[in-house]
Amino acid sequence: MIFCLLRILRTPRAGGMPLPAAGGRARWATRAGLILAMAGNAIGLGNFLRFPAKAAANGGGAFLIPYFCALLLLGIPLMWVEWTMGRHGGRHGHGSTPGMFSLMWKHPVSKYLGALGIILPFSVAVFYCFIESWTLGYACFSGAGTYFGQETREAMGAFLRGYQGVEANAHFASVLPAVLFLAAALSINYLFLRRGIAGGIEVLARWAMPLLFVFALVLVVRVLTLGAPDPAQPDNSVLAGLGFMWNPDFSRLSSAQVWLVAAGQIFFTLSLGQGMINTYASYLAEDQDVTLNGLTTSLANEFAEVILGATIAIPAAVAFFGLAQTQEIARQGAFDLGFVSMPVIFQKLPLGQLFGAMWFLLLFFAGVTSSVAMLQPVIAFLQDELGWSRPRAVNSVFLALLLCVAPVVAFFRHGFLDELDFWAGTLGLALFAVIEIVVFSWVFGARRGFEEMHRGAELHVPGIFRFIMQYVTPLYLIAILGAWIVQDAAGRLLMEGEEPARRPYLWGARVLLLIISAAVLWLVRLAWRRRAARAEA
Ligand code: PHE
Repeated sequence: MIFCLLRILRTPRAGGMPLPAAGGRARWATRAGLILAMAGNAIGLGNFLRFPAKAAANGGGAFLIPYFCALLLLGIPLMWVEWTMGRHGGRHGHGSTPGMFSLMWKHPVSKYLGALGIILPFSVAVFYCFIESWTLGYACFSGAGTYFGQETREAMGAFLRGYQGVEANAHFASVLPAVLFLAAALSINYLFLRRGIAGGIEVLARWAMPLLFVFALVLVVRVLTLGAPDPAQPDNSVLAGLGFMWNPDFSRLSSAQVWLVAAGQIFFTLSLGQGMINTYASYLAEDQDVTLNGLTTSLANEFAEVILGATIAIPAAVAFFGLAQTQEIARQGAFDLGFVSMPVIFQKLPLGQLFGAMWFLLLFFAGVTSSVAMLQPVIAFLQDELGWSRPRAVNSVFLALLLCVAPVVAFFRHGFLDELDFWAGTLGLALFAVIEIVVFSWVFGARRGFEEMHRGAELHVPGIFRFIMQYVTPLYLIAILGAWIVQDAAGRLLMEGEEPARRPYLWGARVLLLIISAAVLWLVRLAWRRRAARAEA
């Protein structure tokens, strides 16, 4: 990581800096801006909430071995594939995966498969923006001390349920505050997206990412100096928490589940299998480096996840609640860890309001720099393939987003969000990643792909990675996807063990996904018909 950063700092103008956008395609303005935007894309709520929860629920240190295997064999190769596809597409005027796929695979079906790279990130944005808006709300509640006095996990749990609209209680009579914070979060996304690539997304990343790192470092130092806060319980300490995160437990490695969860976390955290990285890479200059920049993005994300993310929530929870309870909290999921146990901890610390505000602002910065990246693929599609102006594209996407977010808020308590998360945010990523790697390594060709990836490259990738991209990554991915379909998806599809009262809402979530898919597929068809008509004329 340090090596990559040094190389980038030493050679600020090397590797083909962006060309001026003279009437052509938008471009990133600077290399630092590009790296920050890409890192912002990847670093999200997944790094600070989902990772610690998954790691703690799957054996702590035991989780890290399959996690690093997945990083090396799936994450980094796919990151390069997506950068390469994206730059290649951008050179031919395609900023989203339908166009990128049709360039690499001259078959009528390729553009429809590529449509997944618009459908998935938009569908994830639909629920991701809602969670992102909670972090904004909680940053204000922390700063103002609103929840101070709710000192137990039960009390903070009730506060959260009241805010989410799960139940009306003494804290919140209605879901109105949550709706107002959602409106604020969406407005911030809108304003930056309206300003475009260099003027909007890049500016946002230049501000938000450094602040995120500063806040995270302050919190890491605060957690590391906690010691054992309760003298009566010396076992509950930060050291015990760090030990749990870092001591490998080889006995858990035989569990297939741990391997699946680890691979899923790699996709989620690196924003892979979504078309999001591809779209950002389409704004590179023609021969701008892909290998070193792609690796730097991955390593920056891993630093934020494994070093910063792993050192805040879990060690703090172990220090205050003990190991057994922390694992219990982690099994309840990422929301409990972030929005229930952390606020309880802040109330026990001097300057807790300040640390609380920092924690939730850090989450908000992580979230907003990712949600703009989820919305950009569809905006790029409307601009590039249908010739819409940016304002028209952004306005239309936000109108659609508002319509889709409404049921997520209204039916949150019936499991609507979880259902979207499973299909779009877990299974969908792996499915689209399989399609991408097959198109890249087998249709376009691994040799050609590797050559394309090395055009203008500042880092020579060892040849073994060509072998990995051709055989290991696809087989690994297919194995993961197959195991998921057998283990989870079938039961999930049939809603095994679901309360009957929730089923209509879960169906509602599926219908919403189908509507989004149908709309995107229809737009893809329209764009290609128009293109064919123009070619004939
Ligand atoms: N990678 C980001 C995160 O960790 C955003 C993201 C979430 C991307 C889900 C794709 C799917 O939060």
